Amino acid sequence: MNSEAILQTTKEIVNSDASRDEKLLNICKLLNESIEYYNWVGFYFANQETKTLHLGPYIGAETDHTIIPFGKGICGQVAVSNENFVVPDVAAQDNYIACSFTVKSEIVVPLFVNGVNIGQIDIDSHIINPFKEEDELLLQSINQEVAKLF
Ligand code: SME
Repeated sequence: MNSEAILQTTKEIVNSDASRDEKLLNICKLLNESIEYYNWVGFYFANQETKTLHLGPYIGAETDHTIIPFGKGICGQVAVSNENFVVPDVAAQDNYIACSFTVKSEIVVPLFVNGVNIGQIDIDSHIINPFKEEDELLLQSINQEVAKLF
């Protein structure tokens, strides 16, 4: 499935009758099944009072990192920077939280609702340096659709 088709299916999921968490899970499934190097796909959501991220729906291996303080790891840094973070090789990162030795690279794209960073989509890959500008653009567009759920 190309980016356009993935985005179209995402819109259909957003407009479906499912609950918000089911929709988020279906979007994770869609991405995981459509792009072979998207090996773990999940959403984290920010709690601004406690300055922590909380794991939402995801597809892939179970993770111990269900709560991540702002500033910690790739996810925690994105909670603070409000910028996409593409990590071609996780071994080269100091501030990285390892979930599994099988993960070689990661991309995190913030989720904005009315200009506020409320969370993020996080994708891990088992190969080195798979993420290109097209991935950032796709995930930004997906997050614009996801924002309509909030
Ligand atoms: N690697 C992430 C932690 C979350 S897992 O990838 C699911 C990080 O460094 O923030």
